[in-house]
Amino acid sequence: MPAERLVVRIARLGAQGDGVAETAEGPLYVPFTVPGDVVEIARETGRRGAASRRARLLAVMEPGRGRQTPPCPHFATCGGCALQHLGAALYEDWARERIRTALGHHGFDTVPIAAPFIEQPQSRRRLVLKAQVTGSRVLLGFRERRSHRLVDIHECPVARPPLVALFDPLRDLLPHLLPPRAMAEINLTETATGIDCVIAAEAPLGLACREALAAFAVEWDLAAIHWSEQGALETVVTRRPPMMDFDGIAVPLPPGAFVQATAGGEAALRAAVVEWTAGAERIADLFSGIGTFALPLARGAAVHAVEGARALLEALDAGARGAQGLRRVSVEHRDLFRRPLLPHELAAFDAVVFDPPRAGAMAQAQALAQSRVPGVIAVSCNPNTFARDARILVDGGYRLSAIRPVDQFLWSGQMELAAHFHR
Ligand SMILES: C[S@@+](CC[C@H](N)C(=O)[O-])C[C@H]1O[C@@H](n2cnc3c(N)ncnc32)[C@H](O)[C@@H]1O
Repeated sequence: MPAERLVVRIARLGAQGDGVAETAEGPLYVPFTVPGDVVEIARETGRRGAASRRARLLAVMEPGRGRQTPPCPHFATCGGCALQHLGAALYEDWARERIRTALGHHGFDTVPIAAPFIEQPQSRRRLVLKAQVTGSRVLLGFRERRSHRLVDIHECPVARPPLVALFDPLRDLLPHLLPPRAMAEINLTETATGIDCVIAAEAPLGLACREALAAFAVEWDLAAIHWSEQGALETVVTRRPPMMDFDGIAVPLPPGAFVQATAGGEAALRAAVVEWTAGAERIADLFSGIGTFALPLARGAAVHAVEGARALLEALDAGARGAQGLRRVSVEHRDLFRRPLLPHELAAFDAVVFDPPRAGAMAQAQALAQSRVPGVIAVSCNPNTFARDARILVDGGYRLSAIRPVDQFLWSGQMELAAHFHR
């Protein structure tokens, strides 16, 4: 059935940044539009031929206010960015509104939301690229939005230029490493000692491939390259151990480990965490990763770091042992979804920081809600699960006094935040 063509006016931006038109059949989501746009669209067909809530933009007939020319030639094809067409003021409004709307769904009407920290272009220091060898060609880039199709990218205005400079050399290298039609995922992280590269591929690594990777590391001055096949990871070359620098504290980076997406975003989140834990003597840092917050906090307090990935805790511990002037840092390997810190364990702390993955930390929030910990700081990469967990804390007697939006994933539609709760 051919898609239905309509002309609609865009009323507002939705949570993922798509424009929303109110129609007789309900809201219709139109990517790459702004409020006030009058657009011609093709309504997508949903399951079993039903009218979908999604539409494809065919033409902007009357532009709304606040548009800008998207800086990237891959925009609207590459699924990495959704909002490059928003000018700065409109983008900032959307960032704040994104969090306000999520909170509103959980009954928060009057929480003070600070001006968002919005990262600059060329700042993303970690990229997870997909690659596929097709005959003599290599596609390297990101997937199309809501599709498995790979978009071959040559530019990326959000990424750190040293990472972008590797795109073409990697494209030349990959046919020497992968058989035809093989897929790979390439994880690049810019560290304090150079770029760390993890290639996860559907192919074993022969001697010639090892030599090619070693030569590549020298030619492009990479810190290290690792190869992962079926979950088994091998370090192929280390020229300098990859290290992160957390406010002057050096920590070894396990291959592919989580780091905050940009240095500026990390600093903004850490500034909030440090400010809101000021005066605390004993702090628990839950979902601690390799110590982004735990180690700098240990300059002023004893810190207990809890994390589910053992390799990350070992790196944190190594960072603590190598640093000067820290107070006691203890580590605990624990699955906080299944075994959150319980109220009697939380009683040992006068501040708790938690920074869970996108699923949030419902079980931990429930335990915190029953505790007497005076100060709780949430860091979140998902406003929806954050709002759910915030409701649990507030129903347990905490006051949510401040929220700082932090946008490290410029133009992507993803929004992060730090929030302060206290009794
Ligand atoms: C968003 S990252 C934050 C890491 C750290 N706070 C930072 O800023 O670098 C979430 C962390 O939670 C950890 N994690 C995920 N699921 C977990 C679980 N069930 N129990 C404990 N930690 C978990 C991940 O390994 C990851 O280090």
